This record gives sequence, C-alpha cells and structure tokens, in this order.
Amino acid sequence: MSRFYVTTPIYYSNAPLHLGHAYCTIACDVLARWHRLRGDDTFFLTGLDEHGGNIEKIAKESGITPQEWCDRMAVQDLEFYRELKVSNDDFIRTTEERHRRCTDAFWRAARANKTPEGRDNIYLGEYEGWYCPKCEAYFVEEDLVEGNCPVHEVPVEKLKEESYFFRLSDYTGFLKDYLAANPDFVVPEQRKAEMLGLLREGLRDISISRTKVRWGFPVPDDPGHVIYVWFDAVINYLTALGYPDMTGPRWKYWEVVHHVVGKEILRFHALLWPAMLKAAGLPLPKKVVAHGWWTVDGKKMGKSMGNQVDPRDYARKYGLDAVRHYLLAEVSFGSDGDFSDKRFIERYNTDLANVLGNLAHRTIAMAHRYSQGKIAAPKGESRWEAFVKAEFPDRREAIEAVASGLGLSFTQAAFVTLADVGLGAPEFQGTLERIWRVLKDGNKYLDERAPWNQEPAEREETLGQVLVLLEAASWPLLAFMPESAGRLRERLGLPADRRAPLPDVFTVIQGDPLFPRIDTKKKA
Ligand code: MSP
Repeated sequence: MSRFYVTTPIYYSNAPLHLGHAYCTIACDVLARWHRLRGDDTFFLTGLDEHGGNIEKIAKESGITPQEWCDRMAVQDLEFYRELKVSNDDFIRTTEERHRRCTDAFWRAARANKTPEGRDNIYLGEYEGWYCPKCEAYFVEEDLVEGNCPVHEVPVEKLKEESYFFRLSDYTGFLKDYLAANPDFVVPEQRKAEMLGLLREGLRDISISRTKVRWGFPVPDDPGHVIYVWFDAVINYLTALGYPDMTGPRWKYWEVVHHVVGKEILRFHALLWPAMLKAAGLPLPKKVVAHGWWTVDGKKMGKSMGNQVDPRDYARKYGLDAVRHYLLAEVSFGSDGDFSDKRFIERYNTDLANVLGNLAHRTIAMAHRYSQGKIAAPKGESRWEAFVKAEFPDRREAIEAVASGLGLSFTQAAFVTLADVGLGAPEFQGTLERIWRVLKDGNKYLDERAPWNQEPAEREETLGQVLVLLEAASWPLLAFMPESAGRLRERLGLPADRRAPLPDVFTVIQGDPLFPRIDTKKKA
C-alpha cells in the first residue's frame, strides 16, 4: 500500500486565522482526501506555532500569560478548522510536552554531529541585529523602515547578544547537489529558482537561540538561552510522528512527507529544514511545495494590512465547496491571486452552476421526466473515451494501465489519472481545468443530442452516457468538494464515498440544484 504524509505550516498563534491560512490548509486537505480515496495510508498534519517574542509580547499586552493566550487562540483556531471541515489526522501545538521532548532530542542529535565540512553543527557565538525595545525583538537591516522599527516606527538600537548558531553555511554545497539530483524536491519551478538563487549567493549561519526572549524551550544544557522560534517550529513535523522514538506506529510516514507552505517561508523549508535534518542524521522530506499569496487589491492579505477575509463568511453564504473550488481553481498554485467578491461569484456561476450543476440537474430531471429515474448504463465503450483520447493523447497509456490495474472503465480511469498526475505535481488549477474540459463536453453533448427530441431508446443512451461521465468525474471531485460530490453520487444512486461496480441500471434521485446560480442582479 502506498503512503502519504502532508503538512501545512503551523500558523502563528498571535492572530486569528483567515483565508490565506485556509487556502494552504484546504490544498493539503484535497491532497489528503485524494490519497485516502486512492486507498493510500495517509496522514495529514496541521497545527499552531505558539512560541517566540511576538506571542510573549501580545500576551503581556493582554495581561495574561503566554500559555493562557495560546490556549485561548487554540480554541478559536480549532473552531475555524471545525467549520471548514478540515480532515487533519492530528493537530499539533508547539507548547505541548511531546514537542518539548522532540525538540530537545533533535537539538542534541544535531549538536552531536558534524557538518559536511566536518565542523560542529551548533556553536556559541554572538548575534548582532537591530533591536526594538517595544517589540523586544531584532530586525535585520532590510526590515527597517527609514532606519526605524517597522512596527512601532521608533528608533532601533544595534545590539549584540550571545547566541547559539546553526552552521547552515556548511550546507550550501550539500543543498545545491541535493536540489540538482532531486529536480522535484522543491516545486513549482518558479519558486525553486528563488531557492537556487539563494544557494548561489551562499547561505549564512543562523542564530537559533535568544536570551532576551523567554517564551520558548530552553536550550539543552544551557537554560539561559531559549530556542529560536523557527528552529523549534519546523521540528513539529517530526514531533507528530513520535520522534525521537523511531519505532512507533507513525514513524513510517516520515519517508513520504510533503510540506506545503507559502512562498515567504519556503527558504525555511527547502533550505534550513533539510540542512537541520541532515545535521540530525534524518532523511530529507520527499517534497516541498510553495504556493503564492492571496492579495486584496494587490496587497497581501494579512493581519498587518487589516484586509483579511474570513472564508467562513463565504462558506455560510455560498457553501464550503464553493470556497474550496474558488481558491484552487482561480490561481495556479505557485502564483499570487487577488481575492474579490466579483471573481468569486463569476467562478461559482460559470464552473459550478453552469457546468457541473447544470449537467447533473438537467440529466437527472430528464431521467425522471421520461423514465421514472431509471436509466440503463450504456453498454460498451463510453462516449467519453474518444474525447479523452483526443484531448489528452499523452495520458492514454497511463489511463489504460489504471483501468486494467484497478478494474475500472476507461472513463473512470481517465479521471483517476487526471487527478493522480495533477495532484502529484501538485497543480490544483490544472487538474480542475482538465476535469472541467470533459464536463463541458458533457453539456455540449447533451445540447447536440437534444434528448428532449429523441426517441426513448436513443434518449436513454444519451442520458446514460452523461450519468457515466458524472460518476467518473464525481470520484476525484470528492477530494475537491467532498460534500457536493458526495451528494451528486447519492443522486446518481451510488454510495457517496465508496466505489462500487456501476449498476446495470442507474436509479437517480431528484433534488434541489447542487449549485443554485447566484443572481448578481438581485444582489445589487
Ligand atoms: N509560524 C510560521 C510557520 C512555521 S511552519 C514550521 C508562519 N506562520 S503564519 O501564521 O504566518 O502562516 C504563514 C502561512 O500561512 C503562509 O506560509 C501561508 O501558507 C499562509 N498564509 C498566510 N497569509 C497568506 C496569504 N495572504 N495568502 C496565502 N497564504 C497565506 O509563518
């Protein structure tokens, strides 16, 4: 059996989650759901990053302890996840005891080993940076705004403090070689190019402890230092699998871990983290995937701009699946996308109401109008086989292999293959576009054949062909839009989330449209 492990970043506990966080989490949720549908042994992890000076500061300002702050935020964030029906298998919080044990063991393992250049991985040095007394945090030169703190706009001081360093510079050559030997390790291409650029410049050692911040884990054997938040954060991906115990039931997932992250934190995942793993003597992740940002009127959505969108508002209004579809269909995964009400509604109406919803609704309605909901499944090769072969000629062999390997029809296998290839990349927009290309052909076929004018036998053939298409398409759609695709499968008289052999005769069930059209005129 294949295995799959996918992780989201662990989100900072300093502010409520918004659409940007939901985006990455939903993308991972689609991957996890697809792998479960394939029958893969799947593990999906997400959680919260609860350490560091920012949390310490915000808790202090609120007059509570950092732990109290984190506990409150975790309740809110879990509610966000519950409403978005995220199918994660575990939820990690970095203040947990299991994470302290794991981080401690990881630090010790890295400290005990040497770099590829034969030097100590961790050494004591001096950290120098621009310190803002209000933030109680350091900034690098580039972060400053006209020489002032970017948050408080007050003058910053150049300060030094004793700090442990991770000797990342010694891993530049190792990482260059690794990325060259594993071309799919960092995707998509445009984001990998950024990492290669950083490697060409050469990596610098990174400070991994603080003496001014108290909110974090103590450095092993030197409790005057607290481990830098990023060093402990990335380790969460191991904590959830039970590290340092490598004999536990979850450890098997490590070799198939896929990290999905926003482009701004790719360097931590594609450069620092692999070097840290190598330092601790552990295998590197299978893949690191970077996505772009959601912006509003061109500005990154987030707390600092105050332009966050709560995806739950859209889910309540238009359905959760409409949100999932919009986020993944609207932009290519590595690129940025501008969020707007207008585009949300346009995409909903064109893709969901007009194409999928309309195809399902009118086919099922006609099956009832003309045949009491009973339609024989067409015999032999489906109408879509020729279309798929013409449209995706380079996929033909793969589809045939899937069909014979899994005992599926060509049409069913076509959708499985489109999802496997597309989500393997992963390329969500492309996968949906290809699925929709076939669905659009379904509507065209229905218009051309005009079953309302056909003789009963021909009409039954027409409707049967569309039902075959809807069944095949609904399978990968269970990953993208679980509720609607499940409901569609039930309307087709099939189990929602189990693939049973197709019946000789479909017994379809009528219901409200899956995606009622949003009337923009009425809205205005
Ligand atoms: N705590 C770190 C991550 C540690 S992972 C070991 C962190 N947290 S965060 O709360 O800032 O979350 C960052 C991630 O949230 C981004 O990488 C991205 O996945 C998601 N997004 C937050 N805002 C976003 C947008 N405006 N657009 C798209 N995704 C965004 O960094």
